[in-house]
Amino acid sequence: MNIAVVGTGYVGLVSGTCFAEMGNQVTCVDIDAGKVDSLRDGRLTIYEPGLEVYFDRGRREDRLRFTTSLAEALEEAEVVFLALPTPPAEDGSADLQYVLGVADDIGGLLAANPDWGYKVLVDKSTVPVGTSRRVTDAVEAHGLTAGEHFDVVSNPEFLREGVAVDDFMKPERVVVGTSSEKAGEVMTRLYEPFVRQGNPILLMDEESAEMTKYAANSLLAAKITFMNEIANLCERVGADVDEVRRGIGTDSRIGPKFLYAGIGFGGSCFPKDVQALHRTAREEGYSFEILDAVLRVNDEQRKSLIPRIVEALSDDGRLDGKTIGMWGLAFKPHTDDVREAPAHVLIRELTALGADVVAFDPEAVETTKATFEREPLSGDGALAYAESAYEAADGADALVVATEWPEFRRPDLTRVRRSMTGDAPLVFDGRNVFDPQDMADAGFTYHSIGRPHVPPVAVGDEAGVGRGGDALAS
Ligand SMILES: NC(=O)c1ccc[n+]([C@@H]2O[C@H](COP(=O)([O-])OP(=O)(O)OC[C@H]3O[C@@H](n4cnc5c(N)ncnc54)[C@H](O)[C@@H]3O)[C@@H](O)[C@H]2O)c1
Repeated sequence: MNIAVVGTGYVGLVSGTCFAEMGNQVTCVDIDAGKVDSLRDGRLTIYEPGLEVYFDRGRREDRLRFTTSLAEALEEAEVVFLALPTPPAEDGSADLQYVLGVADDIGGLLAANPDWGYKVLVDKSTVPVGTSRRVTDAVEAHGLTAGEHFDVVSNPEFLREGVAVDDFMKPERVVVGTSSEKAGEVMTRLYEPFVRQGNPILLMDEESAEMTKYAANSLLAAKITFMNEIANLCERVGADVDEVRRGIGTDSRIGPKFLYAGIGFGGSCFPKDVQALHRTAREEGYSFEILDAVLRVNDEQRKSLIPRIVEALSDDGRLDGKTIGMWGLAFKPHTDDVREAPAHVLIRELTALGADVVAFDPEAVETTKATFEREPLSGDGALAYAESAYEAADGADALVVATEWPEFRRPDLTRVRRSMTGDAPLVFDGRNVFDPQDMADAGFTYHSIGRPHVPPVAVGDEAGVGRGGDALAS
């Protein structure tokens, strides 16, 4: 099939590359000429495990092309995916200017080129209920008729960054919202090779498809947030959230996933999608109370380590002269995406209190630099970047684990401890990466989320090595 993908970000680039891997002829369009140049030259613009192999093959075999020209991509395409940004507007609603702007452009091009034939236009962006209708209107405004010249389909994307290629190649389900039989058939033909193991292609109306995406993300955000609140309560009553997780995760009605407590969710989807659904509800005169709570609790959770760090390191509420090592910048492991990352929230708070932060992330340093160039830090503290996790910890008064990259799970703890200040260096583990007893045995004053505190064990260092070895105060 000949496919156009408009918007070559995390979703568009993965979708386009995977469609090409399945033998389709794909042209990806982006208005960002720098991005298109880079992709044409064979340089990926995002980090996503497994993407490079398919990307290289697609380009080599000329099934995957990149352009800044919408017309060039549209002319031959049978299916046109809109994988455009839908960022939150001031009022929390999804900003549809990119989606509707491109719909208008497509309408103009199709009206001017009637010989280009019937097109299926697919909303892959996460968009509020009613957007398919609005896209249809935008195209029909050019004198075209839905059902004859084009149809609009809602096909929300459920891929998870970090495992996006696997998710796209083997989706648990494909949701196709359309009232057009013809468009439904095209979409089924396109997706059949991706669901050969029997996962369903769910055909439904446009509105239900649009709502499905928001319902899924909001429910997942609520599940994590619920668990974070259980963790906060565990700390107060002396329970261990890990045990509770195992206790409830074995209940098939609950399931074991999305029950890991931590410093809150981030990313480009959950925060904005929960906000947008909340906003949709308000516009309909419905007060969606749970979503309100999810947003408020998550905002607090992302900052929840701050008072603990301040209490441990300061008498006056400030952190001037303190150095905080930070492991992890991405909003989750295996991605370079830092949008709404809890690590960034912590960096803003810590530097505002005067602390210097030295951060390491295996993939997300460049995206972090770009973010803080666009929206600079405002406090007295500085942000520097380390070349390794060990370098970030070196000389630090406290170490914060903000992203659970696998490489942070089994570091040389003796090396880390010796390089930090204090006899029982402070570790604030926002992702419960370490075992509290192990960390106590390794001589750390260890704080995590929702698990009991274990006092650090006095660790005697070999003579002449490092500066530890004194009896510990606690
Ligand atoms: N990132 C995810 O994990 C994920 C998962 C599921 C759904 N979604 C949804 O998919 C949509 C896209 O998300 P993303 O993370 O890929 O966004 P992104 O910001 O990474 O990419 C969007 C791309 O669109 C391009 N663009 C903007 N205007 C354009 C125009 N007029 N013509 C051509 N290109 C244009 C931008 O330059 C950018 O490259 C959003 O609605 C998002 O909510 C994202």
